[in-house]
Formats: sequence, C-alpha cells, structure tokens
Amino acid sequence: MSEVKFFYGDAVPLEMHKVRIVQKLNLLPIEQRQEAMEKAGYNTFLLQNPDVFMDMLTDSGVNAMSDKQQAAMMQADDSYAGSETFTRLDEKVREIFDTEYFLPLHQGRACENLLSKLFVKPDTIVPMNYHFTTSKAHIVINGGKVEEIFIDEALKINSEHPFKGNMDIDKLKALIAINGAEKISYVRMEAGTNLIGGQPFSLENLQEVRQVCDDHGLMIVLDASLLADNLYFIKEREEQCKEMTIKEITRAISNLCDITYFSARKLGNGRGGGICTNNKEAYMKIRELIPLYEGFLTYGGMSVREMEAITVGLEETMDENMINQAPQFIAYMTNELQKRGVPVITPPGGLGCHLDASAFLDHLPQTKYPAGALAAALYIASGIRGMERGTLSEQRDEDGIEELAHMELVRLAMPRRVFTLSQIKYAIDRITWLYENRRLIGGLKFVEEPNVLRFFFGTLTTDSNWPDALVDKYRQDLGKVCNLFC
Ligand code: F0G
Repeated sequence: MSEVKFFYGDAVPLEMHKVRIVQKLNLLPIEQRQEAMEKAGYNTFLLQNPDVFMDMLTDSGVNAMSDKQQAAMMQADDSYAGSETFTRLDEKVREIFDTEYFLPLHQGRACENLLSKLFVKPDTIVPMNYHFTTSKAHIVINGGKVEEIFIDEALKINSEHPFKGNMDIDKLKALIAINGAEKISYVRMEAGTNLIGGQPFSLENLQEVRQVCDDHGLMIVLDASLLADNLYFIKEREEQCKEMTIKEITRAISNLCDITYFSARKLGNGRGGGICTNNKEAYMKIRELIPLYEGFLTYGGMSVREMEAITVGLEETMDENMINQAPQFIAYMTNELQKRGVPVITPPGGLGCHLDASAFLDHLPQTKYPAGALAAALYIASGIRGMERGTLSEQRDEDGIEELAHMELVRLAMPRRVFTLSQIKYAIDRITWLYENRRLIGGLKFVEEPNVLRFFFGTLTTDSNWPDALVDKYRQDLGKVCNLFC
C-alpha cells in the first residue's frame, strides 16, 4: 500500500482488500442525535449502535475479519479440554512470539488482573512508559503504584519525534536508585501507547530498558495489545529494522521481554487474549489461576471460534500490507485536519486520530471535561462516536480530588479495514465545521459518578443549553434536510 505511486499526484491511502460483507448504517437527523446524546448522559459509551453512523469509539473487537478468519471459525473444535483449536492457537502464538509457554485468557484486562494479583504487592511500584486505564486500575486495586516515566516529548501535542512512546531511561535509573529494585514489581512497556495518541516505542529503547532491568534483576512485562501499529512504525521509522520482516521484529521485541500479554480484541482481530513467556516459574504461577478466573487451560474463557479467528489474525498481522492500513488512514485524516487548522496529535500514531480538546475548546477548564464535551458535540454534529480520553477517564484520588489528565483528547479510533475513505472525508468535514463553531460548545458535569472506571457508566449533563445552539447553527449552515435526511 505504501509503495503505490499516483501519476496525478494527490496520493491517498489505497486499500489492499476488498469489501465482501457489509453492514447497513443509519444517519439520524441531527435533532434525533441530540436526543440520543442527552439520553446517553452525554457519555458516548452509553449510545446505542442504531443511533451511531461511524463508530470510532474503539478498535477493540470491531476490526474487520478476513475471509480466511471466517473460514477458520467454521472448523473450530469445540471441547472443554484438549481442543485442537487451542493447539493451533498455542502453536501460532509461540511461533510468532518465540516463547515456550502460552496461556489463554478471555481479554486483555484479564491478563492484567492475574499479572497484578501475582506480581504487584502493596506499596510496590510499576514503572511504565504510560498507563492504560485497565492496567492502572488492576495495579492500584492490588495496592501498587504506577509511575509513568515517559520522555518529555510524549506529552507534546505536536512533535516530530518518531517514538513518543519511548521510556525515559535516565528517569528509570533514577527511580530505581531512589526506591531500590526490591520496591519494583516489574517494568511495564506498552506497545502503541494508547492514551498519548497511539504512539510507538522503538526497538532501541526497549533494548535500553532491558539493559537497565538486567542490571537490577527486574522483569519487563510487555502489553502487546497495540503491537500491530507499533510494528508498522518500527519497520517504517527505525534504521536497524529496515531490512527485518515484521515477524523478525515481533520476535526481537518479545525476546527482550519476560512476559508478553495482549488483548486479542486488538492484536489478532478477534475477541480474546493471552499471556506468553519463556519464564517457567512465572508460567506455573499464572497457570494456577487460569482455571479459577478464566476457564480450563485450553480455552481460558474464549470461544473456540474466536480462537481460530485469532490464530489466523495473528498470522495476517505479520503482513505489512495488512497492518499499514489503519496507520495510513489515520495519517491521512490527521494531516487533512491539520491543514484545516484543527488541533490534532502529531505525528499521527496508531489506533486512531486524536483531537486535542484542550486547544479545540480552549475556553473550557479541565474541570468542565472539554474532551467529554467535544465527544458529545461531535456525535451531535455528525453521528460519529468517538471516545473521551481526558480527565473523565481518570478517577478521583482518595480524598475525592479530581485528578486532571495530562492531555484532553477525543480519540477517533480507526477499526482496521472497516471505513472507506469517503467516510473518513465526511468525518473530516464535520470536525472542521465543529471547529469553526467551537465557541458554541459548553462544558459537562456529572449526574452520576461511579468510583471506579467512571467513564464507562457515568452519566453527565450540560452546564448550559449549548446543544440547542449547536443544532440551530447546524441547520442554518447545512440546511433543513439534506439528501441523507440528516
Ligand atoms: N492494554 C491496552 C493498551 C489496551 O488498549 C486495552 C484495551 C487493554 C490493555 C485491555 O484489553 O479491552 O481486551 O480487556 N483497550 C480498549 C480501547 C478498551 O478501547 O482502547 P481488553
């Protein structure tokens, strides 16, 4: 895909697949979208799918499957124990990650649950390049503390740094020197760092982290959920990897880590998860907990059909022409928005296009949840469902004080091979309109606020009747009824 040159200039990302099964979409009139948003408590997680035009909430469990994945699902061997399906998945995971042991679990956070239960002790620290919501919640619930040691560039909205997901090696050394290695449970590296805009780490950086961990006898735990994007960026951007295949890069990464876990809702384009390792002791400890929390060792809470799909999906992930689709669409969308002056995270990462809500709505303080407000406004203006990734996605500290997020982002995820370029152009159009009318957008406040992972189920309301003003302006600018009745 990246190789294709266009004769008349104006290169666009070219899909290396064709669409053979489709799902009908609805585009409701804006008045109905406003109603749906209000009913959902201004929380895009609580919208109903028939009300959503483009679902850019996440890439989790919603990537398009290939014909080969679907075919494999038909030959799944359904049995509680000893299923052939598991043998195929087990062999594929161990081949790709070059590990001796594999354990199946029902999704990524299930891996985090067991790893935290086993390795996080009260008052220990887990240094990481950046946290993810569920990984942090599991560490905290087990009495541990997360220390983020990202490079300074990580939080710069606009940067040229090719690897904003790198860990700061000097800060890691300093953290170990101050606290002592015995206070550290393990070092967590997250591929395709989710919450800072799907930004990758480099192989070189991981090699340096390994060196420090070797010096202090520490384990590295890799969260490989977003590895596909990270692999693509390493191949594209890192000199030492230019001649390596995607599989060789995958193995090089895995060989630097003690334990690798992944959400197969992302990696492998199925629905499941797993942990792999060469460390027999760790394997034996985790294995004990699988039947207790997940299911028997040959399915770990996954359906056999999904396991077959993951086996094929993992092999397909080793194809650069497959894993480049999402990053190239994201780069297209990000660059087009930037040309129109819309504040976005650069360089474009994996996972999705990220709007910088702090700059977009610079008239709103973080306590009014600008990223949440922008996600709600975008749904009203377009039928596009994005995800708040800012202060709403944090939780209050023990004293009930709001923890302000480092960044206020609206993530527009790019599920792999799902959207066409014209749909992306529609998204760019509506986001640009919204940006020109940004002063109409007001803040949000909680109606019901759960204590843990509040962004999933919390309900909010607006601090004024700004949605009415937005709808009025939309009607003025875009007419009463367009061809799509929107
Ligand atoms: N780690 C990372 C980096 C993730 O992005 C996710 C999920 C998980 C772990 C947890 O995996 O959902 O299978 O339990 N991210 C989803 C998202 C929820 O929308 O970004 P899971």
